[in-house]
Formats: sequence, structure tokens, C-alpha cells
Amino acid sequence: MQKRTTPSEALLRKYPEQVVLVTTRSADGRPNVMAVGWVAIASSDPPMFVLGIDDGAYTYELITRTKEFVVAFPSERMARETLFAGSHSGRDKDKFAEAGIGAEPAALVKAPLVADAVANFECVLVEISRPGDCPLVMGKVVAAHAHEDTSLRRLYTTAKGHTLGGVRAAAGGE
Ligand SMILES: Cc1cc2nc3c(=O)[nH]c(=O)nc-3n(C[C@H](O)[C@H](O)[C@H](O)COP(=O)(O)O)c2cc1C
Repeated sequence: MQKRTTPSEALLRKYPEQVVLVTTRSADGRPNVMAVGWVAIASSDPPMFVLGIDDGAYTYELITRTKEFVVAFPSERMARETLFAGSHSGRDKDKFAEAGIGAEPAALVKAPLVADAVANFECVLVEISRPGDCPLVMGKVVAAHAHEDTSLRRLYTTAKGHTLGGVRAAAGGE
């Protein structure tokens, strides 16, 4: 039976939640990476992602300028790196270098791939809408890459406050 409550109280029950890394590259060639939990597939043909990205994030600024980005699914071994990417701004630091996140060149965009991610999706910006308080960034996938190690599992946010961990199938994972 359901008990009526507030949206914020009910949202505490949504975990585990997927988390992705979004990479970008500035005009002067510096790469950046941020963590994003507000992500969904927005179209299958053509494949598209929609991301909720705060307009105060450096990533938002770089996407509006360069019109491209990469969506990477971090592996469950990348909890520390993902937390770092999600709690520091690339305005004043090189998060790839400081967190030890490996990068590989993408095929069609300047933003880098995340070397140890389960999968990477190169995206070009389609549109940004703002139905509520958060800009929704829509990107069309122009190239995709998957890690050769198919046993790698995805990282999830396991609780409010950005607690991160792997989620096994037996615990309700994908
Ligand atoms: C697990 C996790 C999920 C996050 N999800 C989002 C999100 O969906 N949208 C957002 O704007 N920020 C999110 N953040 C916060 C950003 O990653 C954070 O503000 C980051 O420092 C922005 O980096 P940038 O300024 O280099 O772009 C999340 C952080 C963590 C740790």
C-alpha cells in the first residue's frame, strides 16, 4: 500500500541511480569531465541522450561553446574518480590529471573518451531546453565505443549525497 508523501521524501527511494561522466574540451585544448546523474536516453533512432546539467557547471559553458561532448558510463572501479569529477570544477583544475582518469582520442569530436569506462558515446548538441530549473542538454550520438573487457560493470549512485558503488544483478541492478 502507498502512503502519500512529498516528492523529495519519495525521491530518496529512487536509488540505485545511474551516473555518467560527461567530457568536453575547451577551445584551447584542455579536457574536462563532470559526473551527471540526471541522464536518460531520449531517442533510439537516431540515438540521443538528454542530460540535466546545471548552468553554473563549467561543462555547461563548454557544451554551449563547442556544441559537442562525450557521455561515458564509468565502471564500478571508478567510484573515486567519478566522485572527484562530480565535486571539483574544471574551471580551475585538470580533473583528468588530478584524479588519474585515462583519456583516449574520440573518432569524431574533440572531447576525449574515458579509457576505463564501460562505454563511451560521442555526441553533438541538438538543443538545450529549460522546462524547469535545470537546463536539459540533448545530444545526438555520432560514434560509440565499448570496453573490450565485457565483464566490466557499471557504477551507480547508491544513496542521496552521491554515495557510489557497483550494483550487482542480485541486488536489483541492470
Ligand atoms: C554522483 C554525482 C552525480 C551528479 N549529477 C549531476 C547532475 O545530474 N547534474 C549536474 O548539473 N551536476 C551533477 N553533479 C555535480 C557536478 O558533477 C559538479 O557540479 C561538477 O563539479 C561540475 O564540474 P564542472 O564545473 O567541471 O563542469 C553530480 C555529482 C556527482 C558526484
